[in-house]
Amino acid sequence: MKESLYNIPSLKEAKKRTRNPVTIRRESLKISARLKEFAHDKKYFIRTYGCQANVVDSETMAGILDEIGFVSSDDPNTSDVVILNTCAVRENAEDKVFGEVGSLKRLYNNNKDVVIALCGCMAQEPHVVEKIRLKYPQVNLIFGTHNIASLPILLDETIFDKRRVIDVPSCEGEVIENLPLSRSEKYKAFVNIMYGCDKFCTYCIVPYTRGKQRSRKKEDILKEVLDLKEKGYKEVTLLGQNVNAYGKDLNENETFASLLEEVAKTNIERIRFTTSHPWDFSDEMIHVIASYKNIMPYIHLPMQSGSNSILQKMGRRYTIESYLELVKKLKKEVKDLALSTDIIVGFPNESEEDFLDTLKAVKECEFDSAFTFIYSPRVGTPAAEIEDSISKETKSRRFNELVKTLEESISKKANSYIGGTYKVLVDTISKKDTSMLSGYTETNKLVNFKGDSSLIGKIVLVKIIASHTYSLIGEIVDE
Ligand code: 5AD
Ligand code: SF4
Repeated sequence: MKESLYNIPSLKEAKKRTRNPVTIRRESLKISARLKEFAHDKKYFIRTYGCQANVVDSETMAGILDEIGFVSSDDPNTSDVVILNTCAVRENAEDKVFGEVGSLKRLYNNNKDVVIALCGCMAQEPHVVEKIRLKYPQVNLIFGTHNIASLPILLDETIFDKRRVIDVPSCEGEVIENLPLSRSEKYKAFVNIMYGCDKFCTYCIVPYTRGKQRSRKKEDILKEVLDLKEKGYKEVTLLGQNVNAYGKDLNENETFASLLEEVAKTNIERIRFTTSHPWDFSDEMIHVIASYKNIMPYIHLPMQSGSNSILQKMGRRYTIESYLELVKKLKKEVKDLALSTDIIVGFPNESEEDFLDTLKAVKECEFDSAFTFIYSPRVGTPAAEIEDSISKETKSRRFNELVKTLEESISKKANSYIGGTYKVLVDTISKKDTSMLSGYTETNKLVNFKGDSSLIGKIVLVKIIASHTYSLIGEIVDE
């Protein structure tokens, strides 16, 4: 197959950070007449891997494809455009994508006109693009995290010139406004407040795949939140790799605390935010979180490790003592706070003592929920260069011990809800039992309860009657 090679990713380029100001592009899509005509009654399918940033990117791509005239489908096998929006954060996420790429070979063999596209964080990795080019002819479009807005042009060339198109620029990135967005949910929405990351934790690929930290303008964010509120949305989650650093790149004296306060003043019913880095968590932020009822008392605060030596090797820029101090302060200031975290075990040469420090810190924090990972080396990151003396078996054993320790506090927290009555935003009908609804408390606890589907999108009062580790069972009570 003929190939159009515009840009291939480079980790060296991706690593660069300049002081150049960020360009804000107010985009209007360029869609060719022939693509519009082609799209008529053609279907697209998007599979999203990874984090909420990818969810919003997929919603943006869906918005663009809808505007071209394609119709959304949930079956890749009968679709004309199949997009895999990928995650590079750990090897098992990448393995899943390669599995799916492999299984799409049949679709391609049956229909040589199908577009099979790979985009997202994996596309930003040079070795992935190389592997796809050599081994997976079924993938005929590869683009990156920075050029989603070019989708109509890239599709036009792939479809009409029958070429394999590869365009993955590695750059610091821009802020692109005004792209259409077809949201996947009707009552809860993710709102990007910033893109990229400059923290360069030594294990993490994200600063290479998503460019430099760049904040959206406050007016654009507030406009989006107000627009969502007007459309009936009950909850927004403000998104960034490190929301606490919001505004630092804007030269406008803007802070996350003041943004959060203004979002709260829109009076949208529920506000969440993620992810917070323990490093830039200001007192002003804590004060704002504690002062507004519509800012949910739930904070995701990745700890990563409880050992100072490992934290330092990870490049996290805080000590476990300062982390614990922050947790104490948050619990004191924010009423009924729920806390969740991310923890990595098996960082190169993590000693038993380091691991025990993590268990100790975990016990002290009494988390409400946690995401736990075994360290996965990422090509191009500093940690991947470290020779590691810890066996796979030791890492698995530590992982299981960590989960067990975490589950003790998670279950204890869940049990403490029994007998209490909580506000729940109703999300969906249970797939297993259609008489059951599910939703989340203000503290982000999943609750299942009997109820009618007309309640979806409403906030109801639910009395908790039983608890499992990861969910609660309740009964609706009349107000
Ligand atoms: N290996 C394992 N876990 C990782 N994370 C990020 N990079 C890696 C890696 N190389 C985890 C961190 C982060 C979460 C999103 O993913 O805990 O907070
Ligand atoms: Fe999200 Fe990171 Fe995965 Fe990219 S690599 S999709 S930023 S979790």
